[in-house]
Amino acid sequence: MGHAAHEGRAAVVGNVFKKPGEIMNLIIFGPPGAGKGTQASFITSTYNAEHISTGDLLRDAVKRQTETGVMAKSYMDKGELVPDEVVIDIIREKIGSLDGAGFLFDGFPRTIEQARSLDGMLESQNLFIEAVLYLKVDEDEVVERLLKRAELEGREDDNEGVIRNRLDVYRKQTLPLADYYRSKGIFNDIEGTGTIDDVRERINSVVSGL
Ligand code: AP5
Repeated sequence: MGHAAHEGRAAVVGNVFKKPGEIMNLIIFGPPGAGKGTQASFITSTYNAEHISTGDLLRDAVKRQTETGVMAKSYMDKGELVPDEVVIDIIREKIGSLDGAGFLFDGFPRTIEQARSLDGMLESQNLFIEAVLYLKVDEDEVVERLLKRAELEGREDDNEGVIRNRLDVYRKQTLPLADYYRSKGIFNDIEGTGTIDDVRERINSVVSGL
């Protein structure tokens, strides 16, 4: 864990506690089904950070059948990553429209190339990422969660073959980012199993202590 925050609300780095409502710039990171989207809504309702999920933005483009959406669908259906330049363009547009609010990236960055581009975009606006929140959940559990979600919501990429490929892609292309952010001292390991409330509490103790 990159901070003393795991010691709970009493942990202070520097002299500042993050309070509800404060502007935050965060990344929520982890395998498919780790609970990134679920926990993101809690974080953004507590702190001043806009939830930016590349998966949601791409699904919206697919639904509207935009040029990007039609192209992205062929990758998403197989559980492959959409090309970096497409995703980076989406993020560039989003960052340009933040207008003073913070951000919580969910599902982005997913490759070293995306992370480097993000660093460049943020640097040019004097912004920086305060913390990467890594939800650790083992593969058997995420497969179980996503198959359950398939029954409830019918997301097209939630079938066992595609889920296994998403996990493979995550391990090969996205997990190396852990070291990238660990070396910057902003990476926080958070146990992602247990109830949604348990995980929320663990996140809260990290974020409030930043
Ligand atoms: P994306 O939408 O980002 O999917 P993902 O990473 O596979 O993540 P999920 O939404 O499946 O999981 P999550 O961690 O958000 O978990 P959730 O909270 O939903 O990406 C989809 C596709 O888009 C990619 O495959 C790729 O093609 C493309 N894409 C997106 N971003 C890209 C990028 N940057 N570059 C290139 N391509 C990109 O929870 C899952 C389920 O578990 C839910 O049913 C939830 O209710 C349940 N749950 C949550 N927490 C718990 C808990 N504690 N206990 C039990 N159940 C729980």
